[in-house]
Amino acid sequence: MSTISIATAKEVFDLLRDDLAAIEQEFAVQSSSPVEVITDIATYLMAGGGKRIRPTLLLLSAKALGCTAHSRIRLGSVVEMLHTATLVHDDIIDEADTRRGRPSSNTTWGAAKCVLAGDWLYMQSFSVALEERNFRVLDLLISLTQQMVEGELLQMQKLGHLINEEEYFDLIFRKTACLFKVSMQLGAAITPQHGLGNAEDIDAQLGEYGRNLGLAFQIVDDVLDLTAAEEVLGKPVASDLREGKATLAVIHALERGTGADREAIRTVLADRSFDRISHPQILEILQRHGSIEYAMDTACAYAEAARLSIADLPDTEAKRALLWVPGFVTTRDR
Ligand code: IPE
Ligand code: IPE
Ligand code: MG
Ligand code: MG
Repeated sequence: MSTISIATAKEVFDLLRDDLAAIEQEFAVQSSSPVEVITDIATYLMAGGGKRIRPTLLLLSAKALGCTAHSRIRLGSVVEMLHTATLVHDDIIDEADTRRGRPSSNTTWGAAKCVLAGDWLYMQSFSVALEERNFRVLDLLISLTQQMVEGELLQMQKLGHLINEEEYFDLIFRKTACLFKVSMQLGAAITPQHGLGNAEDIDAQLGEYGRNLGLAFQIVDDVLDLTAAEEVLGKPVASDLREGKATLAVIHALERGTGADREAIRTVLADRSFDRISHPQILEILQRHGSIEYAMDTACAYAEAARLSIADLPDTEAKRALLWVPGFVTTRDR
């Protein structure tokens, strides 16, 4: 039984500070286009901050296997660029006006330019990844992108409808957890000679960590959408219900609520507005059935599953940091 301790936030930042700074620089170089509006949109989004959780995962995965190659910086930037492309497109689809505490890029530049800038960012991230000359890397990134697009489309088809938990988990795997999984697997893909035993097992353990963590991450994102304040979250709140999206806490309340509770939730989902039923009324229903608590407990269970997924990795600073991330994800407020 391993007695390895969980790292502190400071230890994680100290461990990753130089690499994360290098990734910021790499991103700036990679996202520069002769067509100024593309560079402007990418620079604007990066300057807005963001948690950089996907590059963090890639770096920790690579470090856990002893990788020191420049590939970790390059691909750290690639996963953040892919993420940025999805945010640009997601905000157009969701008609969101705020991102990272500032006007969203579609608000500033308009949807038409942002669709194209998002496309450019997708292709640029592939072009940079191609420099690795590693088919495994391309394989992972291509199927990831297809999963994410499929996730967004499936979500659109289900808007306004009552979905069950199984459909919910399928959606959040595709739209969010898959990128967490792939970020972890890329760390293994660039460290083939890690000497830690069966490469497939290591890839599976790291991937499973990413999947579990990503599911926890999106469940928390969906809870924050219901409970957070926009000034703290930096993006619109209560937007999922207004977009007709039923997330885990809402699904829970739909299954347990009284006829009147179910009707109230259905009304908001169908109207895609709080005109007839207010946001506080919905929150009261969720509180009464312990639905927010249920969603957070579920997120915490996935966070714990993430920790368990890497129990067999050798004890390193990177592993201690990977044990810290799940707690960060479930206690964050933005
Ligand atoms: C937002 O991701 C999109 C989701 C998958 C919920 P993040 O919450 O990681 O966004 P930033 O990068 O920190 O702004
Ligand atoms: C995240 O879903 C999907 C992405 C892959 C961007 P959301 O629609 O909940 O993301 P936010 O809340 O706008 O960041
Ligand atoms: Mg959105
Ligand atoms: Mg959200």
